[in-house]
Amino acid sequence: MNWFTKQSRFKKPLIAVTLVTAGALALSGCAGGGAGAGADESSAAVAITKVGVAMPTQTSERWIADGDAVKSQLEEAGFTVDLQFANDDIPTQTQQIDSMITSGAQLLIIASIDGTALTSQLQAAADAGIKVIAYDRLIRNSENVDFYVSFDNFKVGVAQGTSLLNGLGLVDATGAKAADAPSGPLNIELFAGSADDNNATFFFDGAMSVLQPYIDDGTLVVKSGQTKFDVVATLRWQQEIAQKRMEDLITSTYGGGSTPLAGVLAPYDGISRGIITALQSAGYGDTIADGLPIVTGQDAEIASVKLINDGVQFSTIFKDTRTLASQAVTATKDFAAGNTPEANNTTDYDNGVKVVPSFLLPVVTITKDNIQSELVDSGYWTAAEVAAGVAS
Ligand code: GAL
Repeated sequence: MNWFTKQSRFKKPLIAVTLVTAGALALSGCAGGGAGAGADESSAAVAITKVGVAMPTQTSERWIADGDAVKSQLEEAGFTVDLQFANDDIPTQTQQIDSMITSGAQLLIIASIDGTALTSQLQAAADAGIKVIAYDRLIRNSENVDFYVSFDNFKVGVAQGTSLLNGLGLVDATGAKAADAPSGPLNIELFAGSADDNNATFFFDGAMSVLQPYIDDGTLVVKSGQTKFDVVATLRWQQEIAQKRMEDLITSTYGGGSTPLAGVLAPYDGISRGIITALQSAGYGDTIADGLPIVTGQDAEIASVKLINDGVQFSTIFKDTRTLASQAVTATKDFAAGNTPEANNTTDYDNGVKVVPSFLLPVVTITKDNIQSELVDSGYWTAAEVAAGVAS
């Protein structure tokens, strides 16, 4: 069943929303609207009517969609919202959070740029009785993170690694060993995300959990020898940095494009597009059918969905920002009602000070075969947007 209307990427999903204002719930101290596990005395003290939402950047459309979805769903539930984007600049984000606190937000939803840079803001928030929800990216080194909503980040990495193996013909789409698998050796290269983003390690570790056995038995060869997270990480997830590193690898290790390269692990669509540009310029081919290496991705950004549809990028991992926004709003309503939001993971997200109770959502691998069923039929992108490669 499709829960989302066409073009509803920026709107709330069609799930029932309790139309009781959060302030009324908090003031009355009654439980309601949440699947939470009992009253939380400390949160009942501050009535939550205004929510600050700090997003990292508008250069990636996913964060614009996240911001818009969180804002519209919160407003629908009766909250006032202060939404800010920080242009991937850490001082800008800390300043925005400072000002959300001083201007009276009673709860913060934060997708951090640098997960370790917000300790003093979060202390100020705690001192003022403000609850903090970490949004998609865990905030580290602070006890003042009350809840975390995200996707299953290790599984994202497993899906990326499995998809690379699938594109190389080593496994089928379900991850089972392919009957006609090539024996190799096949050259691959590895890219990871931004080292200051807690998610990047989960993605890389998840991917390596499925790739390492093939590297160990010689089927896959990382010809550059660059396999350590710190070496393959991409600061701020930047497309240009990834493109430059791929160009350098082609020069240093692949004879300028004359040595075969079968695939590249890419953890995010912007990085994927940088890698693809470098590969195409070096003459590896314009499409996979032409010999372009298999490149993975993440986020189902429209530019990459078009590339997948056109047979250029092999895959992406779809993380539905509408359901993530909805989960953040559910947690906000629980806190506003004086309840503890329901977590489905209380073991894996240790932020260096404590294990943060988390709600993790599932993800879907997208290839050319399921763009229609997963992205178009669910209203995330329209067929026209997929054809154009641009959000309308
Ligand atoms: C990560 C996020 C990914 C991707 C990346 C770059 O934190 O989990 O989905 O968006 O940032 O923005």
